[in-house]
Amino acid sequence: MKLLSKSDDETKELGRKLGEKLKRGDVVCLYGELGSGKTVLVKGIASVFGINERDITSASFTIIAEYDADVPFYHIDLYRVAAGKASELGLQEYLGGNGISVIEWAERAEEEIPENSIKVNLNYAGDNMREIEITGMEL
Ligand SMILES: Nc1ncnc2c1ncn2[C@@H]1O[C@H](COP(=O)(O)OP(=O)(O)OP(=O)(O)O)[C@@H](O)[C@H]1O
Ligand SMILES: [Mg+2]
Repeated sequence: MKLLSKSDDETKELGRKLGEKLKRGDVVCLYGELGSGKTVLVKGIASVFGINERDITSASFTIIAEYDADVPFYHIDLYRVAAGKASELGLQEYLGGNGISVIEWAERAEEEIPENSIKVNLNYAGDNMREIEITGMEL
């Protein structure tokens, strides 16, 4: 499924719609270059679980941010993880367990990611335009 977002708010709204369909154990993989809107989308997803969007950040040194929401929520950002090093993070403890995981730069942990994960590709399509393609889930 391919959609066009014209603003931050539209991307957040898309995140909310996606979040509403998630259940415990789901893994959402986000792909797209710097500034393509991955973290904006995570804010929308997290809001469904009662997490304030301001608490979702791109902190430089946090790889795994854990939120004790209604459902455990893990925001994982692999940007600073070197190729081949993702296996050392113990991601299996989070992925597919009791909670919901959303992973930015998921291509850096290809081997660790369960096959049935939901995949979202974000691409620039102009200043405030982003093309967003979702596979593994219908909204
Ligand atoms: N339609 C849109 N959807 C999402 N973000 C948008 C949109 N239009 C403009 N933007 C802007 O693009 C930027 C997206 O930043 P964001 O931090 O979400 O990117 P990212 O993909 O997480 O990058 P990084 O790889 O650095 O983590 C923000 O500054 C946001 O305001
Ligand atoms: Mg980000």
